[in-house]
Amino acid sequence: MINFDFHKYIGNYVKKEDKVEYLEKAREIKSRFIEGDLKYWNKLESFISSQELKKIVNMTDYIRSNCNVFLVIGIGGSYMGSKAVIEALSPMYDRNGPEILFLGTNLCSEEYFETLEYLKDKEIILNVISKSGKTLETSIAFSLVMDLMKEKYTEEELKDRIIITTDPEKGDLRELANLKDYVSFTIPELIGGRFSCLTPVGLLPIAVSGINIIKLIEGARISYERVDRAIEYAVIRDIMYKKGKTVEAFTVYNPKLYYFTEWLKQLFAETQGKNKKGILPISCVNTRDLHSLGQFLQDGHDIIFETVIGIDKDKMVTLDQYDMELNSLNKIALDKVGLAHSNGNTPTNIITIDEKNEETIGELIHFFILVSIVGALLIDVNPFDQPGVEEYKKLINEELE
Ligand code: PA5
Repeated sequence: MINFDFHKYIGNYVKKEDKVEYLEKAREIKSRFIEGDLKYWNKLESFISSQELKKIVNMTDYIRSNCNVFLVIGIGGSYMGSKAVIEALSPMYDRNGPEILFLGTNLCSEEYFETLEYLKDKEIILNVISKSGKTLETSIAFSLVMDLMKEKYTEEELKDRIIITTDPEKGDLRELANLKDYVSFTIPELIGGRFSCLTPVGLLPIAVSGINIIKLIEGARISYERVDRAIEYAVIRDIMYKKGKTVEAFTVYNPKLYYFTEWLKQLFAETQGKNKKGILPISCVNTRDLHSLGQFLQDGHDIIFETVIGIDKDKMVTLDQYDMELNSLNKIALDKVGLAHSNGNTPTNIITIDEKNEETIGELIHFFILVSIVGALLIDVNPFDQPGVEEYKKLINEELE
C-alpha cells in the first residue's frame, strides 16, 4: 500500500486556492482515464496479455537453469525498468540464479572489452530488447555479443539462447526473429520504452532474477483511487512549476531504490521535457546526498521541490545506543530533512510504501506512469513521443553513413 502526504511539508507553498483553477482540467483528465482515450493506460491487459505472461512464467525456470549469465541488451526504457525493479527487490549479496548483466547502454570500448572477455567462458542466454529494432547502442552490443555467441554455439543451440523482445510487426529485430525462428516477445504497440516495465520488456528479466512478477503486476492492478492520487500529485507539481520550481528531486532513503530514481528520471525527462518546457528530474539517495546535493536543496538557488519515497517497515537492526531500530532513525531523518528543506523553501511531497515488496513496487510504477502522462497533459506536450532523443540518433547515423 502507498500513503501520500502532499500537505505536511508543502502546505505553505501550494494553497487550496491554487488548486481551484485545475478542477475542471482534472475532471476532464480523469474521465479520459476512466472511459476515454487514456483508458488504455489504466488497464493491466494493455501492458501484458495473459498469453505473454504465461510464456514468460513458463520460460523462467528453463532460463534460470540453462545459463549462468542472462544478458539483457537494450537502452533507455528497454532496460531501465527491469534494472530498477531488480535492484530494488534483490538481496545485495549472494543473489541466486544466473547473473543478470546489462549491456548496450553506452559506446564505451572499455566496458565492451571487459564484458566480452568476461562472457567468453560463461553460459549465456541473451535477451535483446528494442521497440524500434534500430537503436544504435543496442545494435552495436547485439552484433558484438552475437559474434561471441556464434563462436560458442551452433545455429541450433542459438535458438535456445537468443530471445528477442520487440515490436509485434515491424523492425529489424522482428524480421530476425521470424527468419531465425528465435523465441520472441512483443512490446505492445502503444507502449513506448519508458512505460514498458510491466510489459515483457521488464517482466522477463525481472522474472529471471527470481522476483515474483505475478505479485508485481498484481500491485499495479488498476485502481481508480490511484488515478485520483496521480492527478492530485501532478497538479501539485504543476503549481510548483508555475511558481518557478523547475527542478524536482526524487529522494530515497534506501540505496536499493537508486535505480528506481534513475527510472523516474528517464520517465519524467522523456515524457515532459519538450518544447522548452518541463520539470528537470534529479535524484538523491539519502542520507548520503545530504552531504552533497543536500546543501543545494537547503540553501541553493530556489528552483527545487522534492518528492521523497519512504519505506515504513524495513529490516530490523537494533541500535542499542539509542534503544531504537535503525529504520526508525532513518524515518526520523526523512521527516526532519523534509522539515529542514521546506523551511529552506524546498517544499517536499512524501510518498510512503508500507514495505518494499513486489506489490508496492508494482503499484509505484503504475502510479508514476500515470503522473508522468498527466503532467505532460498539464503543460500541453505530447507524453508519448521523445523527439529530442531521436535528434542525436539521426546525427550519429548521418555521420556513420
Ligand atoms: O522511452 C523511450 O521510448 C526511449 O527511452 C527508448 O526506450 C530508447 O530510446 C530505446 O529505444 P528502442 O527500444 O527503440 O531501442
